[in-house]
Amino acid sequence: MIVDLDPVTKDNWRALTKLSVHPDQREFVADVTYYLAMCAYGELWHPLAVTVNGQVAGFCMWAVDEDRSRWIGGVVVDESRQRQGIGRSLVTTLRDRLAAEPGTPNVALSYQPANTAARSLYLALGFVETGETEDDEVVARWTPPTS
Ligand SMILES: CC(C)(COP(=O)(O)OP(=O)(O)OC[C@H]1O[C@@H](n2cnc3c(N)ncnc32)[C@H](O)[C@@H]1OP(=O)(O)O)[C@@H](O)C(=O)NCCC(=O)NCCS
Repeated sequence: MIVDLDPVTKDNWRALTKLSVHPDQREFVADVTYYLAMCAYGELWHPLAVTVNGQVAGFCMWAVDEDRSRWIGGVVVDESRQRQGIGRSLVTTLRDRLAAEPGTPNVALSYQPANTAARSLYLALGFVETGETEDDEVVARWTPPTS
């Protein structure tokens, strides 16, 4: 299984808008269509298509904060493709890509406390809850190991 993070293009944006999550998960994320609009007009977030062997399977986006920390947001794996390791692969790849940008102190993300799937994924990847909150969400950060 090859998980890639690809640009959003004229060829894949429609497939991104068709991504959906389980009804019980809908309270945790917005529609990908909303995220795409936020990326297009909000002047903060940058979208990525998550593909598996070339097929769209998920979505994520990233941003740069005032303190230069990088943020991961809008993580969605389509309901039909969950529990296959795609979430772990995409977050690891994006975390490492963002952390490698010069001057990046850490990579941050946030999630609702009740989102146990997301929480266990992020904590397993080394993100640490900092005590910060962002709206109704808990903030966790990953700081690259010093070499
Ligand atoms: C959270 C999400 C992105 C995980 O994606 P995924 O591709 O299913 O995750 P993976 O298969 O890589 O699983 C990685 C780990 O996440 C955790 N996890 C994933 N789904 C889980 C679930 N339904 N219940 C509990 N833990 C879960 C587990 O720790 C899992 O490791 P394991 O398989 O060794 O037990 C996916 O469930 C999703 O899109 N949820 C709806 C949207 C959402 O909540 N996004 C996050 C917003 S902060």
